[in-house]
Amino acid sequence: MLKDKLSEEELKILRRSFEIIGDIAIIEIPDELMSKKELIADAILKKHKQIKTILRKVGEVDGIFRVARYEKIYGEKTETMAKEHGCRFLVDPTKVYFSSKLSTERERIARLVKEGERVLVMFAGVGPYAIVISKLSKAKEIVGVELNRIAVEYFRKNVQLNKVENVVVIEGDVAEVVPKLEGKFDRILMPAPYSAENFVYLVRGKVNNGGFVHYYTFESENYEEEIPKKVEEIFLKNGILAKVIFMRRCGSFAPYVNRYAVDVQYLGEIK
Ligand SMILES: C[S@@+](CC[C@H](N)C(=O)[O-])C[C@H]1O[C@@H](n2cnc3c(N)ncnc32)[C@H](O)[C@@H]1O
Repeated sequence: MLKDKLSEEELKILRRSFEIIGDIAIIEIPDELMSKKELIADAILKKHKQIKTILRKVGEVDGIFRVARYEKIYGEKTETMAKEHGCRFLVDPTKVYFSSKLSTERERIARLVKEGERVLVMFAGVGPYAIVISKLSKAKEIVGVELNRIAVEYFRKNVQLNKVENVVVIEGDVAEVVPKLEGKFDRILMPAPYSAENFVYLVRGKVNNGGFVHYYTFESENYEEEIPKKVEEIFLKNGILAKVIFMRRCGSFAPYVNRYAVDVQYLGEIK
C-alpha cells in the first residue's frame, strides 16, 4: 500500500509486521520514517478497519511489570478488548503486559490440562493463561498470582467478563504468596521468561510427583540445543528432580534471541 508513497530506501527500513490487540495496532516506526507516520497510519487504517488507536513502540518491554513505552500516533483511548479462543480480555497495553502473539501457546497449554487438575499460574498478568485454561479444559481450580495492581484489576474484571468460576485471583509477589498456598498443584506455569530462573525455588514441594511445570526462558538461537540440560540443572540446583519432555519456540525477543516454552515433568524433591 505504501509502494508508491515511500522511496525504496524508506521501504527497506519500514517494519512490515505489527501486533493488533483488540482495536489497537502496535507498530514500530524507525526515527528516519517518523515524517511519514501519517502515511503509515493511513495504510494501517485502510487495511484494518477495526483499528481505533495506533501506538508506536518507543521502548522495549521493561521493568518488573514488563510494560513497554508507547507514543500515540492515532486515536486516543488505550484500553481495548482482545479476543481469543472464545475469551475476552479487557486490557490497556500502556499499563499492563499483554501479547496477542502468545495466543497459540495459551491454547497449547490449556489443551494439556486434564479433568480435575489444580493449576497455578505465577506472573498471571490480566489473566489470559488462567482464563483460557478455564474455558478450554475441565480443570478443578486455577490460581493466578500477579503483582501489578492494575493488571490484577483487569484480571478480576476479565474473570467476570468470561464468567469463569474456577479461577482464583491473588494480588501479590509470588515470593510471598506461593509459599503460603495450601496443598499441591498438578501444573505450575511460569510465564516470566526474563526471570523465571530466580523463582524456581518456589516450585519445590508445590507440584505433585509426575506433574508439570511450564517454564519460559529467553535464549539465543545458537544455544537452543542446550536449553533442556540447562533447565534440568536449574531445577536440580533448587532441589528438584525434573525432566524436560518438550520444548518449543514461542516468539522472539531480539534478533536471534527467542522465547522458549519448556515443559518440565516434576519427578520429586531431592535433599
Ligand atoms: C511477561 S508478563 C506475563 C503476563 C501474563 N502471564 C501474560 O502472558 O499475559 C509477567 C507478569 O509478571 C508480573 N510479575 C513480575 N514479577 C512478579 C512477582 N514477583 N510476583 C507476581 N507477579 C509478578 C508482571 O507484573 C507481569 O504482569
